[in-house]
Amino acid sequence: MSRKLLLENAHIEGIRYYDVYRKNGGYRSVEKALKMTPEEVVEEVKKSGLRGRGGAGFPTGMKWSFIAKPEGVPRHLVCNADESEPGTFKDRYLMEFLPHLLIEGLIVSSYALGSNTTYIYIRGEYAWIPDILEQAIAEAKANGFLGKNILNTGFDCEIYVQRGAGAYICGEETALIESLEGKRGNPRIKPPFPAVKGAWDRPTVVNNVETLAAVVPIINMGGEEYAKIGVGRSTGTKLISACGNINKPGVYEIDMTISVEEFIFSEEWCGGIKNGKRLKACIPGGSSVPILPANLLLKTAKGEPRMMNYESLADGGFATGTMMGSGGFIVFDEDQCVVKNTYTLARFYRHESCGQCSPCREGTGWMEKLLLRLEKGQGKTSDIDLLWDIQSKIEGNTICPLGDAAAWPVAAAIRHFRDEFEWHVTHAAEAQTRNYGLAHY
Ligand code: NAI
Repeated sequence: MSRKLLLENAHIEGIRYYDVYRKNGGYRSVEKALKMTPEEVVEEVKKSGLRGRGGAGFPTGMKWSFIAKPEGVPRHLVCNADESEPGTFKDRYLMEFLPHLLIEGLIVSSYALGSNTTYIYIRGEYAWIPDILEQAIAEAKANGFLGKNILNTGFDCEIYVQRGAGAYICGEETALIESLEGKRGNPRIKPPFPAVKGAWDRPTVVNNVETLAAVVPIINMGGEEYAKIGVGRSTGTKLISACGNINKPGVYEIDMTISVEEFIFSEEWCGGIKNGKRLKACIPGGSSVPILPANLLLKTAKGEPRMMNYESLADGGFATGTMMGSGGFIVFDEDQCVVKNTYTLARFYRHESCGQCSPCREGTGWMEKLLLRLEKGQGKTSDIDLLWDIQSKIEGNTICPLGDAAAWPVAAAIRHFRDEFEWHVTHAAEAQTRNYGLAHY
């Protein structure tokens, strides 16, 4: 049984509302943190080893300590609730069922960073969630946890919910900031990082929903205790949204000491592959991270069981490993067509490219066209090589990581499933009539 820090109270009826949340220990971390100095709060988060849960896994305490503090310039905390990575839906679950956990984490984090005006930027498609968040904000304010002079400490904080309009690129932190400022969501060149020059050119920290929620148990239990959970640099717990051909799709909280095999096949988690089929492959960290075939997924190249943590999932680099990413765990059974699924992803990235950088704007379109051609049995062997060439020219050549995110799935699919691409060339007629694979994630 894995330890639960975030979802521990998710089953309690009415936990979405302040009274029930408070009765069950809610807002204790605010009371505790506001008795500490902001620097001490940052120190606890550093000690916890918490890494950003949006996908990049950057150490949160370190990011916080990078925030510039020019005299007289306001600073901002922005919660990235633009969760758009295909296969990822854990932040939605947190916001929908435990909104006060996020608000509590935001108040503590705002205090640590000196942000008196904090934003939650939420993707447009989560249309029903802003109301839930706004109600939680109003309840927190009515009970003295937000607004002026919180708990008589002299700390003021307001939280505003800003709705996006349904663009994947606005989850990239600098595009998000542009959109928050009312402009088109085009990514900015980094550096300067937002911690130095962010929203309205002010120092800004952008953190994912789950990262900010994790600040609550960190303050309650202390950073050192939190760091004891997990393994190595994968401390604490991680939310995984599991989907695809499994018996029990859903959002799970794991403590990063379980193996991938246990996660997929145990009744406690995914409950095995649906309809008694065999496991073919998995994209374990949201659509941007490399797909792995079952043999490499369950065991590392060294023959050790692969574990559900940052280091083990990445073991072997992209030659034989993948990434923890956002925790969007997409499982494929033996009937899934890798070419078709890769095409589906390529179509998504082409649609979502902002168009600023030529390699991404043009390359994603070419990849989509080639994949469709191959998938339909109209491709040539040289198309596979061309596809490889295009993805290699996108990777690392764009302002933001959308280019890499579009290139990596294609590269991994060819690296591990080249025979399946070739089958689409040599069995053209069959490829044209077969219609398997997920049309949409
Ligand atoms: P990144 O590695 O560029 O940055 C991570 C964070 O650390 C950023 O907030 C950045 O500002 C900060 N940072 C890094 N170096 C810094 C420095 N020297 N000074 C100050 N701050 C610094 O990665 P990024 O672009 O934030 O995220 C990419 C990841 O996002 C991908 O790996 C993917 O897994 C994930 N992703 C998640 C999605 C979701 O829906 N959750 C959607 C799309 C991508």
